[in-house]
Amino acid sequence: MELKKEWQSLPTPCYVVEENLLKKNLVVLKRVADATGCHILLAQKAFSMFYFYPLIGQYLAGVTASGLFEARLGHEEMSGQNHIFSPAYKEEEFAEILQICDHIVYNSFSQWKKFREQALAAGRECGLRINPECSTQEHGIYDPCAPGSRFGVTLENFQPEELAGLSGLHFHTLCEQNVDALEETLLAVEAKFGKWLHQMKWLNFGGGHHITRADYDVERLIACIRRIQAKYDVEVYLEPGEAVALNAGFLVTTVLEIVENGMKTAILDTSAACHMPDVLEMPYRPQIIGAGEPAEKPYTYRLGGPTCLAGDNIGDYSFDAPLAIGDRLGFCDMAIYSMVKNNTFNGMPLPTIAAVDSSGQTKIVRRFGYEDFKNRLS
Ligand SMILES: Cc1ncc(COP(=O)(O)O)c(C=O)c1O
Repeated sequence: MELKKEWQSLPTPCYVVEENLLKKNLVVLKRVADATGCHILLAQKAFSMFYFYPLIGQYLAGVTASGLFEARLGHEEMSGQNHIFSPAYKEEEFAEILQICDHIVYNSFSQWKKFREQALAAGRECGLRINPECSTQEHGIYDPCAPGSRFGVTLENFQPEELAGLSGLHFHTLCEQNVDALEETLLAVEAKFGKWLHQMKWLNFGGGHHITRADYDVERLIACIRRIQAKYDVEVYLEPGEAVALNAGFLVTTVLEIVENGMKTAILDTSAACHMPDVLEMPYRPQIIGAGEPAEKPYTYRLGGPTCLAGDNIGDYSFDAPLAIGDRLGFCDMAIYSMVKNNTFNGMPLPTIAAVDSSGQTKIVRRFGYEDFKNRLS
């Protein structure tokens, strides 16, 4: 893949999301929904670029939200179902949630008891998040099944006598995983909660399914969904975030300066801490178009942000030619968990957001300025 010509004239930093790449993912997701009759929702926490919601709405059944604001965004911009899950709802927000969400998932029996009358009177479908205590991954901070986790009701805390009025169960335990982890999780869910599943209308498998990754076993996912549907006579929901916009976007940046201290560091106009915080949090090393591992190509640089944070480094990369001030670089897979998480630490400007339509035309969707920084501060 090459750096695109049009990127040379974009204001940087700039997230660029491509309609055709999104569609490629959406087609895969729709195939799963069509083959099984399951409902697939966009988890907005990963990708909330609502410019593309009309497109996404053609392929998916709706959205899910982590709180009132995401729920409002889904309500305003997306067609279809509007689900919400929060570890704890605020009383003063609940009436509005009831107006705009059709499915409400509670994290505890205490929350369910607190809000059930209101929710059922409003005719909403209610669900309970369960915790099957089945860890299938090693990223501690992304493991809702870790010991002491605040997410979901464990079998020990389950109150079967309080199930009347609940129409579904929900679990979310995975992170960037293939179907083998889902299979293992489903066995744990069934072993612990299977006997109550028969009385439910639906089961939500949560997110973390990397369905649109090249090596994901889509046929096995279809088989999993069909098995659960048949055995328990439930509808199945999936709410992937990453899989919807995986590899569908880039972050284009400009080299501002090059400094030397035992090695060369290129200072960019983008920051890991501000514009791609998962690089530091996860942590991971994003791909750059045309770049290799350190020393794989003749010219190696550390890439750093312009903030004061000593650790605001994106990683070490090598290039075929020396980097020069003004060069453009394109970070890959930057649609997800990037613009939803960005911040203006150090007064860093928020990246411009651009979209590439199906004919290859690039359009700037939104630019940010000083007011966006200032308005958050007082
Ligand atoms: C409850 C819930 N659903 C869905 C998701 C989306 O996960 P992913 O983007 O990994 O598919 C998350 C992510 O944290 C989540 O907490």
